[in-house]
Amino acid sequence: MIEYQGSVFRPPSEANSLILQATLGCSYNKCTFCAMYREKRFRVRPIAELRKEIAWARDNLGGVRKIFLADGDALTAKASFLHEVLDCIREAFPRLQRVSCYASPQSLQIRTVEEMRELKQAGLSQYYLGVESGCDATLLHMEKGVDGDEMVRVANKASDAGIKLSTMILLGIAGRSGSDRHAKESARVINAISPRFVSTLVVTPVEGTPLWDQKLAGDVDELTPIELAQELRTFLAHTDLKSSIFRSNHASNYLALKGTLPKDKDALVDVLDEVLANPRKAAFVPDWLRAL
Ligand SMILES: C[S@@+](CC[C@H](N)C(=O)[O-])C[C@H]1O[C@@H](n2cnc3c(N)ncnc32)[C@H](O)[C@@H]1O
Ligand code: SF4
Repeated sequence: MIEYQGSVFRPPSEANSLILQATLGCSYNKCTFCAMYREKRFRVRPIAELRKEIAWARDNLGGVRKIFLADGDALTAKASFLHEVLDCIREAFPRLQRVSCYASPQSLQIRTVEEMRELKQAGLSQYYLGVESGCDATLLHMEKGVDGDEMVRVANKASDAGIKLSTMILLGIAGRSGSDRHAKESARVINAISPRFVSTLVVTPVEGTPLWDQKLAGDVDELTPIELAQELRTFLAHTDLKSSIFRSNHASNYLALKGTLPKDKDALVDVLDEVLANPRKAAFVPDWLRAL
């Protein structure tokens, strides 16, 4: 059996994947908005435990095609450990199409291009990266640990290794006064990364985080759905991408949009202009249906 330890998070596009906790928690665990792994101490799981779980999944779950390596930054584990996990996975699931994981900027700083290339050859072909913002002041305020230029540098290391990147941008994280700059700078950084996928999430203050404390102190202005739509419009209007799939289908969003950039850029901007012109007619997801 697979006994998951603590809360498990995965991107929406991994809904049909087998989730294996290669590591527990997040080795960085400092981003002011993120509560996901605060209750866990980071550690790499013993390979023997993972071997048992993989064997159980092989014997009990038919036809595993996709695997997501949790928790928050599995790429931080040593390359030799990840190779052991990937070898075991490949042996157990001959019809496997993809293995992916979260990659924080910090994990990308420590992995070399060569290591990532070799791990890709062993099956780990896609990373999810929380870019969150391209604005240096906003990245500093959220304690992401890198500025926009460093985010681009480490993301491009992964691209150089042939990794497919799926990036996240956090709408609303810069508040009202920083919204426009956050949107434009985020587009600049995403343009420089040119990821295969870019998705937006709406920042949600969660109890137990510094962002929650800032909210209680009255220091957070949470944007309205209209202001978030304006931020997203500015972001999309400033993208200059060759071929990226855009989605705002994460459960935190008020508007679920998707398209390919640049092909659908004008149409997406038009949809948002329509929302901004006629906010009462907009099909915003109600708060009770939103989640993290
Ligand atoms: C589990 S985290 C892993 C990302 C990876 N560790 C990194 O930093 O690149 C996945 C993403 O969830 C989003 N997220 C986390 N906490 C959130 C919150 N309170 N509100 C909205 N989105 C949040 C962020 O975009 C974050 O990058
Ligand atoms: S966003 Fe990523 S790096 Fe930051 S604390 Fe959460 S899991 Fe860790």
